[in-house]
Amino acid sequence: MNKIRAAITGVGGYVPDYILTNRELETMVETNDEWITTRTGIKERRILKGENQGVSVMGIAAVKDMLKKTKTDPKEIDLVIFATVTADMTFPATANLVATAVGATNAFSYDLGAACSGFLFALTTGASFIQSGMYKKVVVIGGDKMSAILDYTDRTTCIIFGDGAGCVLLEPTTENVGIIDSILKSDGTGESYLHMKAGGSRMPASHESVDKRLHAVYQEGSAVFKFAVTNMAEVAAQIAERNQLQAKDIQWLVPHQANKRIIDATANRVGITEDKVMMNISKYGNTTAGTLPLLLWDYEKQLKKGDNLILAAFGGGFTWGAVYVKWAYDSH
Ligand code: UT7
Repeated sequence: MNKIRAAITGVGGYVPDYILTNRELETMVETNDEWITTRTGIKERRILKGENQGVSVMGIAAVKDMLKKTKTDPKEIDLVIFATVTADMTFPATANLVATAVGATNAFSYDLGAACSGFLFALTTGASFIQSGMYKKVVVIGGDKMSAILDYTDRTTCIIFGDGAGCVLLEPTTENVGIIDSILKSDGTGESYLHMKAGGSRMPASHESVDKRLHAVYQEGSAVFKFAVTNMAEVAAQIAERNQLQAKDIQWLVPHQANKRIIDATANRVGITEDKVMMNISKYGNTTAGTLPLLLWDYEKQLKKGDNLILAAFGGGFTWGAVYVKWAYDSH
């Protein structure tokens, strides 16, 4: 009997309407469009505005989009995993809120935190439940409302990030498609370079933590850049090599959208030309766990059954990884 694999059988996505351009950022901090464009490749990013709008709003919209496109009955969903570092609340899990809102009343659900690598960690986890034969329909969401944890007076971080969420549906298949291989890595020594100081159990919120702006992303950009370039490129090359994939066999590189220079370095390491690299960093910036599913959402119509995709990411933790996906369908 053929092995059961987890196939991606649908994609959904959502980005908020509000567009924060480099030009508008010029009026907020000492920066300029030319610096942001040449150093990062970002021109604009989306921001979720309004009172009481958490990341769940975007997750719900993304899942509804996917359910409609795939004509899936939400009651058939077994599990919802939401990869995010900007949950609506510390608890309950945002995945619970999403599952209930979309009518996935028979599912259990939980959040998973692995920063920018969150979608790959969640995808691998969700796929394992399918491969084991335990569940038949798993929804994996990646999304973040980064605007909620940014200090818009810190020009080194606020220009990079944006808000957005995407999701995929995983279902079993015995065909030779789906999630084929996965390499995931973590290294806690990365903590000092990229973290949020306050708001967790180590430093709960206080007047002082708010006054000192400690509830925002802290990043030592150039140090993170060096780790990201090396590790994302290496892990992408490693998964290609161990699956005997040469550049000509790979239809798409699907890289985390943190910085165009990191994306270019990863593509070079794997030997892939720019026309085979999914890219939307110029319009969304870095949506943390949202980047990879939003790429699949944007490029879904160009994907064909049997295409070989290498997904790769690097982020806070440090966390990094790559997943080899053989695409399972021609566009709906
Ligand atoms: O997704 C999670 C993982 N995160 C990443 O992968 C991000 C990795 N890091 C990066 O993408 C880049 O390091 C940044 C985009 C954050 C920064 O780019 P960089 O080329 O590493 O710049 P830098 O931090 O070395 O700063 C260069 C100069 C500095 O000025 P001096 O000291 O040379 O005079 C900064 O003060 O650029 C200055 N600078 C800015 N200038 C205008 C820093 N931010 C800005 C800005 N606008 N927004």
